[in-house]
Amino acid sequence: MADSNNSKFILGSLAVIVSLLLLTQVILYNAWSLGENMLSDPHSSEQSRQLIVSEDIKPGEKIVQSVCKRCHAFGMMRAPKLGSERDWAPRIEKGKAVLYDHALNGFNRMPARGDRDLSDEEVKAAVDYMLSLLDFDTNK
Ligand code: HEC
Repeated sequence: MADSNNSKFILGSLAVIVSLLLLTQVILYNAWSLGENMLSDPHSSEQSRQLIVSEDIKPGEKIVQSVCKRCHAFGMMRAPKLGSERDWAPRIEKGKAVLYDHALNGFNRMPARGDRDLSDEEVKAAVDYMLSLLDFDTNK
C-alpha cells in the first residue's frame, strides 16, 4: 500500500515538473519571437522565415537556439542581437572571415565557441545562420 502511494506521489510530482518545464518553454519561445519581431522589419523576418525552412541552415539554427541565443537574443553584455541590422552592420564590415575567427577564438566578452564543445563547422554554421537573419549581402 505504502509503495503504491509512493509511486503515485512520484508520478504526480513528475507530472508537475514536466508541465512546469513545458510552460517555461512556451514562455521563452514567446519572448523570443516577440524580441525577433520587434527587432526586424517585416521584410527581413519574412526572409528569415524562408531561410529557417531551408535545409542547410538547420544545423546552425539548432546551435544558435541552444548555445548562442542565451546572449545574442537580447544583447547580453552588448552582444549583437539576432536579426538586428543596426547591431550587425559594423561587424559585417569586418568581413565574414573575421567574424568566424572571433566566434571560434573569442573576442572581448564573446567566449570562444560560445563556451561549448563545438566543432569549427558547427560554430561557422551558427555564424552563417545569424547572418542569414539579416538583410545584408554577407557573402563578401
Ligand atoms: C556568454 C555570452 C555569449 C554567448 C553564449 C555567445 N556570444 Fe557571441 N558575442 C557575445 C558578446 C558579448 C559579443 C560582443 C563582443 C564585442 O564586440 O566586444 C559577441 C559577439 C559575437 C560575434 C561578432 C564578433 C565581432 O567580431 O564583431 C559573433 C560572430 C558571435 N558573437 C557569434 C556567436 C556564436 C556563433 C555563438 C554560439 C556558438 C555565440 N556568439 C555565443 C556573447 C556571447
